[in-house]
Amino acid sequence: MYKTVVLMFLVAMLIISVFQRGFLNIRGDTQIERNARMQKEAIQYWKVKPNKSAETTEEPTNGRNIQTVTKTWDITSTNCSANLHLNSTEDFIALEQNFQQFLLYRHCRYFPIIMNHPEKCSGEVYLLIVIKSIISQHDRREVIRQTWGKEQILDGKKVKLLFLLGTSSNKAEMANHQKLLEYEDYIYGDILQWDFMDTFFNLTLKETHFLKWFSTYCGNVRYIFKGDDDVFVSITNVLEFLESSKDTKDLFAGDVLFKAKPIRRKQNKYYIPPMLYNKTYYPPYAGGGGFLMDGLLAQRLYLTSETLELFPIDDVFLGMCLEVLQLTPIKHGAFKTFGLVKDKNSKLNKEPCFYKSMIVVHKLLPQELLEMWKLVHSDLVCTINPGLLSDA
Ligand SMILES: *[C@@H]1O[C@H](CO)[C@@H](O)[C@H](O)[C@H]1NC(C)=O
Ligand SMILES: *[C@@H]1O[C@H](CO)[C@@H](O)[C@H](O)[C@H]1NC(C)=O
Ligand SMILES: *[C@@H]1O[C@H](CO)[C@@H](O)[C@H](O)[C@H]1NC(C)=O
Ligand SMILES: *[C@@H]1O[C@H](CO)[C@@H](O)[C@H](O)[C@H]1NC(C)=O
Ligand SMILES: *[C@@H]1O[C@H](CO)[C@@H](O)[C@H](O)[C@H]1NC(C)=O
Repeated sequence: MYKTVVLMFLVAMLIISVFQRGFLNIRGDTQIERNARMQKEAIQYWKVKPNKSAETTEEPTNGRNIQTVTKTWDITSTNCSANLHLNSTEDFIALEQNFQQFLLYRHCRYFPIIMNHPEKCSGEVYLLIVIKSIISQHDRREVIRQTWGKEQILDGKKVKLLFLLGTSSNKAEMANHQKLLEYEDYIYGDILQWDFMDTFFNLTLKETHFLKWFSTYCGNVRYIFKGDDDVFVSITNVLEFLESSKDTKDLFAGDVLFKAKPIRRKQNKYYIPPMLYNKTYYPPYAGGGGFLMDGLLAQRLYLTSETLELFPIDDVFLGMCLEVLQLTPIKHGAFKTFGLVKDKNSKLNKEPCFYKSMIVVHKLLPQELLEMWKLVHSDLVCTINPGLLSDA
């Protein structure tokens, strides 16, 4: 009881101090004052921070980590204005507002990094888990950290976790959200954040920023799992799958769609006007809910991505990059990123043995995820027909 009270007091003090700092900033002090204070705080953090996040500073300030971090995120300012050549064409004027917005800023490829963690990739990392998330979904991140995303070493293989974020798209709540996120990162040290707005059409920016970041810092990472923050993943099955694929060059596996047609119904979330894509089919691509790729391939995908114009749907964009490299992603039945079974009421959706045999399943709310995790890791006896679970 006494311990709980002390702990709560400490947490309250931390939150208060985080917010105080926020209010100080809002008052509008000069850049120099702010820098000076940040430096002072950095020194304090250095003393109190746990070891794992001791190296979170973006650039090495002395010789200490020079040998591990030789390159840094090289984008330090945002210099991007709307492409006004566009709006004179009739096609452009006929477009929906959100596509106009997308096209006006499509040439803005990279933005500065706000929170960085180069140390995540130090040493030999076998699997780097990267999860697309937005600031307000902290409960999803929390559950992932507690369950399948836990950092660990399994059979000598190091597994690391990172979340990928942009900035709040809700202007009113921007300052407070940002402070909370900084506090979350202070505790867990697992947030990568870039200075672009976290919108649906900017998801491709998240993809390209991650690939560039990975190519900068992560030469020693063998595999990447990239996915959404509302999926259930079995890391045991992931590792088993990777072990069985260890001779596959350029591994890229997931819930692959072949010959998907661009959606032309305007009401649909994934609607794409012919002006943006005029072919009948998309190239083969893996659903962005969760897929696996080889680290070396990710570096090639980064270089390829720079030769293509951005496309608003992130997983299709990655399919386009693979096509340029003349690679076909591998479809595997244990990736269920487009829903489990067609019938939403099917009992399979709640069947823990089903989850136990999968690599990734879309999609579960935090509470459901936690419950399913507990069920799957209880003394579960499964007699489910494995035939049902292979490639469907
Ligand atoms: C940090 O690491 C050093 C050596 O690696 C260890 O001696 C020390 O106890 C660690 N400190 C904390 C707070 O974990
Ligand atoms: C921004 O970019 C434009 C055109 O690319 C250039 O003319 C301008 O000098 C740049 N501004 C800054 C502050 O870098
Ligand atoms: C293009 O946009 C600029 C700035 O928003 C505006 O001044 C101009 O009238 C537009 N031109 C057309 C043809 O819509
Ligand atoms: C993407 O983010 C940039 C930078 O915050 C912003 O200017 C742009 O409007 C966003 N694009 C879309 C389509 O939301
Ligand atoms: C399809 O789009 C490409 C690139 O935007 C363009 O070069 C080509 O002419 C278009 N084809 C048709 C049939 O509109």
